[in-house]
Amino acid sequence: MSAEPLHRSYLHFSELPTSLRVLYTAVLALMGAGYLFAGIYLYHSHSGRDGDPKTLSYQDVVIAYSGSGQGSKLEAALRGPMAAMLPADESKSVIGWVQGGAERSAYESDIKGVLEKRCASCHDGSNPHLSNLVGFENVKKTAEQDTGTDVFTLVRVSHIHMFGMTFIFFIMGQIFSHAYIRPVWFKSVVVVLPFIAIVLDVSSWYFTKIYKPFAYVVMLGGGIMALSFTFMGAVSMFQLWFGKTPPAVVQRTEAGERQLAGL
Ligand code: HEC
Repeated sequence: MSAEPLHRSYLHFSELPTSLRVLYTAVLALMGAGYLFAGIYLYHSHSGRDGDPKTLSYQDVVIAYSGSGQGSKLEAALRGPMAAMLPADESKSVIGWVQGGAERSAYESDIKGVLEKRCASCHDGSNPHLSNLVGFENVKKTAEQDTGTDVFTLVRVSHIHMFGMTFIFFIMGQIFSHAYIRPVWFKSVVVVLPFIAIVLDVSSWYFTKIYKPFAYVVMLGGGIMALSFTFMGAVSMFQLWFGKTPPAVVQRTEAGERQLAGL
């Protein structure tokens, strides 16, 4: 690693006033804790989706964004445990109605009667453990496909993420810019990677709805962000307080002082 000359406006941590170094330290510590909590939250809200609450897997991400791919509760029951509750032709017409989008008009004309006659004796809402199958709104709830987080929610979370993450990585990059890292291209890559990762991550939430393997890109994006966050934070913290001042910085400082002294 041959040393590239220092940029004239580059300042190493050791050249910053103590108050600024204390400020950077406080910001790094709090952001680190924040990142940890974000990780815990992410784990708890997603890890159980695929039936295994211990790990955060590819399948968890797929289910979060594109749904379980399974049919509705109503269809599953009609094909399974409730199949004996009604004649096959009536079952077929209810399933057809569910798959056709569970429209209100068809419900009123064809479905309502069947459900009231065959199901309402038990599913009338009086038992809190059984779905209420009386009234369109209630039936509709059990007829919905699991299609994952809806697009509007994604839009809401996207803008929060893009603003929030940009702030975090701007502050982080700004602090990290005082670190002494060679080669300079590598330092620049570390600074810019999380921004690319945010774009990959957020856009892949939507793409996962269309093509499931994009869930890998979601995971990759999150991984890159966590990695560069940790790297920038750890290197900055170390060079702030523990690392030796790099020779290039020492030389420049000494040369500058000689010049000032007119030597
Ligand atoms: C004799 C009472 C009875 C009738 C009639 C009945 N069910 Fe059920 N249903 C149950 C019970 C009890 C369960 C819970 C069984 C289980 O979880 O294995 C259940 C479970 C279900 C479930 C899944 C759990 C839930 O509540 O969401 C659905 C959906 C369902 N039934 C739909 C129907 C439909 C549709 C009909 C009419 C075609 C029907 N049931 C008729 C008693 C009944």
